[in-house]
Amino acid sequence: MQTDYSEIVHRLAKAQKVVVLTGAGISAESGVPTFRSPDGIWSKFKPEELANMEAFLRNPKLVWEWYQYRRRLIEEVQPNPGHLTLVAMEAFFPYFSLFTQNVDGLHHKAGSRCVYELHGNIMRNRCSRCEKRFMHSEGDMTEGLSRCSCGGLLRPDVVWFGEMLPEDVLSKAYEDAQSADVFFSIGTSAVVYPAAHLPILAAESGAFVIEINTETTAISNMVHITLFGKSGEILPHLWRTFRERVNF
Ligand code: OAD
Repeated sequence: MQTDYSEIVHRLAKAQKVVVLTGAGISAESGVPTFRSPDGIWSKFKPEELANMEAFLRNPKLVWEWYQYRRRLIEEVQPNPGHLTLVAMEAFFPYFSLFTQNVDGLHHKAGSRCVYELHGNIMRNRCSRCEKRFMHSEGDMTEGLSRCSCGGLLRPDVVWFGEMLPEDVLSKAYEDAQSADVFFSIGTSAVVYPAAHLPILAAESGAFVIEINTETTAISNMVHITLFGKSGEILPHLWRTFRERVNF
């Protein structure tokens, strides 16, 4: 069935403020595995053994080995047409912000500027004691387990299960979701809170909410429209259609 883009084009043409939430699905076409697909990350690894502080304190070497493996994978991948379309969109709208649950840094690599990382960035390290951040991964973190000058063990600067999201980023996300004209929820299963609350909050606050996903999700019945398919195909098509119809 062909999607009718008229309402989407109409909403985007009027929009002053466009806000986007992305999840692992937007990076799937770049080769980064998602979390909850049958062959996703959580089908092979147990979050409780790897992605929380207790696991790290119990066996930091194992946790670092897992993150080093994912870093190597991410270092080699490139942004896909979905990421690149969001860069073009950012240049068009008077206000555009992008909140991502992804830790892969691919939105920055693509050239997006107004990016807020809700779950951190896998390429950064943070001291598990004094919270000091280190911008680059320096060497093999499994070798001798690097420490901060305060003596604390360095850990990846990502949000683990049971941890709070960065407060400033989260409050900005709530503020933008509540004031968006159009809100996109792209490539996320929308089951991990508080990020999953953002599209719902946007819809409740009056935004037109567009979901892009290969499947129905936990929030599909709460959004205005779901565009089914790969974001690397849907987003460029949507943007081309919009440009043709508004003639710019
Ligand atoms: P999930 O793995 O839960 O969901 C990925 C979503 O992307 C699914 O709904 C897929 O149907 C969809 N998808 C897959 N390929 C796609 C494509 N090419 N185009 C569009 N959609 C596609 O990932 P997230 O929702 O991002 O948290 O997971 C949220 C959080 O759970 C992650 O940030 C991570 C994890 O635990 C932390 O590590 C803190």
